[in-house]
Amino acid sequence: MTPVIYIPGDSGALALGADKVAKAIEAELKARGKEARIVRNGSRGAYFLEPMVEVQTEKGRIAYGPVKPSDVKSMFDAGLLTGGYHKRWLGAPDKIPFFAKQTRLTFARCGVIDPLSLDAYRMNGGLAGLKKAVAMTPAEIVKTVTDSGLRGRGGAGFPTGIKWKTVLDTAGERKYIVCNADEGDSATFADRMIMEGDPFVLIEGMAIAGVATGATKGFVYIRSEYPHAVDKMRRAIEIARKGGVLGATVLGSPNAFDMEVRVGAGAYVCGEETSLLNSLEGKRGVVRAKPPLPAIQGLFGKPTVINNVISLASVPIILDKGAAFYKDFGMGRSRGTIPIQIAGNVKHGGLFEIAFGLTLGEIVDDIGGGTATGRPVKAVQVGGPLGAYFPRALFDTPFDYEAFAAKDGLIGHAGIAVFDDSADMLKMARFAMEFCAIESCGKCTPCRIGSTRGVETIDKLAAGIEPAKQIELVTDLCNTMKFGSLCALGGFTPYPVMSAINHFPDDFRPSPIAEAAE
Ligand SMILES: Cc1cc2nc3c(=O)[nH]c(=O)nc-3n(C[C@H](O)[C@H](O)[C@H](O)COP(=O)(O)O)c2cc1C
Ligand code: SF4
Repeated sequence: MTPVIYIPGDSGALALGADKVAKAIEAELKARGKEARIVRNGSRGAYFLEPMVEVQTEKGRIAYGPVKPSDVKSMFDAGLLTGGYHKRWLGAPDKIPFFAKQTRLTFARCGVIDPLSLDAYRMNGGLAGLKKAVAMTPAEIVKTVTDSGLRGRGGAGFPTGIKWKTVLDTAGERKYIVCNADEGDSATFADRMIMEGDPFVLIEGMAIAGVATGATKGFVYIRSEYPHAVDKMRRAIEIARKGGVLGATVLGSPNAFDMEVRVGAGAYVCGEETSLLNSLEGKRGVVRAKPPLPAIQGLFGKPTVINNVISLASVPIILDKGAAFYKDFGMGRSRGTIPIQIAGNVKHGGLFEIAFGLTLGEIVDDIGGGTATGRPVKAVQVGGPLGAYFPRALFDTPFDYEAFAAKDGLIGHAGIAVFDDSADMLKMARFAMEFCAIESCGKCTPCRIGSTRGVETIDKLAAGIEPAKQIELVTDLCNTMKFGSLCALGGFTPYPVMSAINHFPDDFRPSPIAEAAE
């Protein structure tokens, strides 16, 4: 048996030197006259262990990490090809605590298989959902997705089945499936990981959405900062087309569905669904007023399903294993699993897929291992740049849409950014306002003007100019933005700002120097 060595080709692993490790392994094989098949898999998501090299042995896979090119020679000396012990030895990947504690439904194959092997995809459970879907009526597919309790993973948590039903029930000579892969939130990388590590699962999810709603064309809108994901998706679409998964007869059924990739130009607001549709149509990325909903009048004015990558990639397993199977995971109205992305100042950064319900404290302290600096955790921003800052006092909040909303926070795309006690929350509040000012599409006044006034007011606060008045002004401004903005960019910026003010009041008190000057 020719040994197989897995070296991630995922951008995160590449950034940590995976290509150099691959070159060193190839050179060492050559120098020793040994043969091995090298597979560039995706990442399993434990970025603190990347580049994580795995070797297929007779007893299963053995992982090593984080591997440096300088480790390679001694790894071969230690018997890498048969899983021999070395200081980078991690054992069976499934037994590594970071992976053993997860429930991998959507990411089951990510980091495990060759991302561009349709055979490997099929052999590992791929296409089973689509096979079932083409034998069902559209209404049955939609009902399965609705019954599973799946809610949009892009941020708003809207029930996916209800969106699909609206498109199914709306007449249109052409309908579209649009996948939102703009992934602009800070601390998020789940969409990128799936597109680079298991692109066929997204293609399968989009094809199922097409069969369910009568849409025959799909677009994946990917941010320009993701060149590897763009490349993987394009190649995977080509392979899926050749393999009969896409095209005039999806898996030999009477359903037609094809898709293509479009690359965004790098505006955060183009992740907002209507702005994204404008961008896809070649227009400026400005938010559209709703109604009409995209489900009724979306891309080119036609009924359109627009879903996040993870929402769509979660559909194949729902169709394969059934709604009840998926719904069994989670808590309250948050059903299934969620890929939590742990980032910022944290020891064990990475993607952790688990059923909803883990508390924020468990995620940060137990899974994330606390801060990388070793200093106490001060704040955790959950849900991207529009999410609230949570203090340690709220660490008992379970990861659940409603529980977070009850604490004036949001789960969003499930990215969490950890900060230690050196973080200045006034600066973080200012950053939130500044971010909104820079990224605002300019369509509505509370966001366009309010965010700039917000920056100025926080600057006055920092300078110690009438602090009580500035806090009152910012609070008033946040209320106007929250209730008067057209979309969540202006509407949610108050969350990071007000959570910083409310939970960390000490950072907003004038410094003794400023007080003395006043
Ligand atoms: C400013 C802004 C940025 C957004 N960025 C993204 C994004 O990058 N990816 C995403 O899936 N949804 C994003 N959304 C949410 C989308 O508008 C929309 O709710 C989502 O694509 C719907 O898919 P889902 O139901 O599967 O979550 C953003 C929303 C706003 C207001
Ligand atoms: S809230 Fe901001 S980004 Fe959203 S529509 Fe208004 S101006 Fe545009």
